[in-house]
Amino acid sequence: MGEERTTAMGRFDIHDETAVVIGGSGVLGRAMAYALGEAGARVAVIGRSAEAAQQVAARITSAGGVGRSYACDAQDRPLLEATAREIAETLGPVTILVNAAGGNSPEATTTPERSFFALDPVALRSVVDGNLLTSLIGCQVFGEGMTRIGRGSIINIASMSGLRPLTRVPAYSAAKAGVINFTQWLAAYLAQGYSPQIRVNAIAPGFFLTEQNRYLLTDRESGAPTPRAQTILAHTPMGRLGAPDDLIGTLLWLASPASAFVTGIVVPVDGGFSAFGSV
Ligand SMILES: NC(=O)c1ccc[n+]([C@@H]2O[C@H](COP(=O)([O-])OP(=O)(O)OC[C@H]3O[C@@H](n4cnc5c(N)ncnc54)[C@H](O)[C@@H]3O)[C@@H](O)[C@H]2O)c1
Repeated sequence: MGEERTTAMGRFDIHDETAVVIGGSGVLGRAMAYALGEAGARVAVIGRSAEAAQQVAARITSAGGVGRSYACDAQDRPLLEATAREIAETLGPVTILVNAAGGNSPEATTTPERSFFALDPVALRSVVDGNLLTSLIGCQVFGEGMTRIGRGSIINIASMSGLRPLTRVPAYSAAKAGVINFTQWLAAYLAQGYSPQIRVNAIAPGFFLTEQNRYLLTDRESGAPTPRAQTILAHTPMGRLGAPDDLIGTLLWLASPASAFVTGIVVPVDGGFSAFGSV
């Protein structure tokens, strides 16, 4: 009797899985939602704006996939739980979760005029909650569903700033470091306490030009790269910013059985930024 063997590409198969992308209405989240849809998963797109989430879901459906949108603030656990029940009823048990909500805020960013000591605690808290708490709550709500069926893959979107803190964004860096630490914690907790087939990993994107960091990377008037963007490019061996689709290969690997023995890791997708000593 020959040993049953999945083909190499078959290991990446996520057909008929149900995926949730929290923050799937955003620039990076929607690229990941489209990819999961193209790969055959049913995709629930969760965002705070019903309209933005709806546009992403509609595009998944018009490309031949199954996309549904859900307007929900992922920091509101009862609301997220109600959303999770609706998703399970409509699309089936969720086996892939991408936590892509989050970002920084100008009010929590130091400037030459505003030192770290002057940053408003309200702004600091909103950044910590917006990145760390949303990931924690997302994992509680959808992770519990995975424990009932004994399998699943959670992918938290961290940041380069969680591995090597960037200047000017203290709360964001600390929150993303928290996301990385929590990813490791939850990986061990779920594998030991529930099932080795529930995996938790993170992606740490490097520098991608998106709406939330445009003010830091491009000049408002001319659109030219700021000195900060020039420094980033000089420290990125590949010499460019990331494009949202650069995340897709890593995402599909982590979401699928191709990474069956991988849990608790953080994959930098950063054009070599984190590997480079700059000299
Ligand atoms: N842009 C970058 O260069 C970069 C780099 C590293 C990491 N990241 C991270 O990637 C993720 C996505 O970033 P992006 O650039 O696509 O940002 P984005 O602002 O375009 O998308 C974030 C999306 O999440 C939604 N969202 C935020 N808080 C939410 C909440 N509480 N409940 C539901 N939805 C919520 C927003 O409405 C938005 O649609 C974030 O976690 C960000 O920190 C971005």
